[in-house]
Amino acid sequence: SENTYILGIESSCDDTAAAIIHNGVILSNVVATQKIHEEYGGVVPELASRAHQQNIVPVVDLALKKANIDKKQLSAIAFTRGPGLMGSLLVGTSFAKSLAYGLDIPLIDVNHMQAHILAHFIKADGQQTPNFPFLALTISGGHTQIVKVTSHFKMEVIGQTIDDAIGEAFDKSAKILGLTYPGGPLVDTYAQQGDPKRFKFPKPKVKPMDFSFSGLKTAVLYFVEKQTAENPNFVKENMADICASLQFTIVSYVIDKLKNAVKHTGINEIAIGGGVSANSGIRTALKESEQKYGWTTHIPRFEFCTDNAAMIAIVGELKLKAGLIADNSVIAAARLKF
Ligand code: KG4
Ligand code: ZN
Repeated sequence: SENTYILGIESSCDDTAAAIIHNGVILSNVVATQKIHEEYGGVVPELASRAHQQNIVPVVDLALKKANIDKKQLSAIAFTRGPGLMGSLLVGTSFAKSLAYGLDIPLIDVNHMQAHILAHFIKADGQQTPNFPFLALTISGGHTQIVKVTSHFKMEVIGQTIDDAIGEAFDKSAKILGLTYPGGPLVDTYAQQGDPKRFKFPKPKVKPMDFSFSGLKTAVLYFVEKQTAENPNFVKENMADICASLQFTIVSYVIDKLKNAVKHTGINEIAIGGGVSANSGIRTALKESEQKYGWTTHIPRFEFCTDNAAMIAIVGELKLKAGLIADNSVIAAARLKF
């Protein structure tokens, strides 16, 4: 089957997304981001599943319209089975199963983390796909992993966070600094105007390829408490330098970990994904690593970095080609390994 149209559905966290892929090319990529969570300073699972239920039909419908195809033309339906929030996963899973059953076409279950990595195989202008084996660094509000990728479906987690995800480190620190949720992009914006060497923050010691971020937010909290005791306006007056120093710490920590992974595996081709790969410090450091350490790096288009359904659709296409179809009794899994 050369001429396939595959619908991808993603609902693992707080974004309801649908995309259509046709022979490696994304025809539409729709994401409904849930604004409701901003008021709470984090994702509220109960509210997320309700919003998915509201959004799922309009989002899928829009993806079909934008791709200019009818649902009867679909060859298969791919959906995020996990990992993620159970209530959120159930909405996408049940919808995908029903639609595949109704249309009598194959259903394909997708691992969200695998999809973040395989997003690099979406055909896009000016993008070179990675060569196997490569290292994938997935960094977002929910995940922080270094994965050794040997083939499309052979992946091994070689390093990960033992506590908070890197996005949480940005968001929780931002909250302490009085910035609105999600604070990651704001820290990045301030950081670009500040002095990265002005303040020192600790880099937690864990295994060479693992990450730990919970100590960093505590360090930021103590730092802010101490400084504001002397000057109540300290944070406001020094926001750029604080953010630049914080970002510098996080970015150099990530680069340290990648260096360890390159040394451990002998692989120096690196592909990044996840919402935090939007960070300007990470992007600059990775680009510089090509000259500095001789690495080859891949940074996908931003719309394929954050949670999206295009990445689910590409995995759907790869799995359909490989004959990896789901059983119709497949169920969502909040915790799901590779
Ligand atoms: O992949 P994503 O959209 O959703 C998941 O968490 O799965 O990632 C969102 C995370 C948030 O923590 C957000 O603050 C962070 O990515 N983020 C950034 C930047 N843009 C998004 N963190 C630092 N700098 C940025 N420019
Ligand atoms: Zn994600």
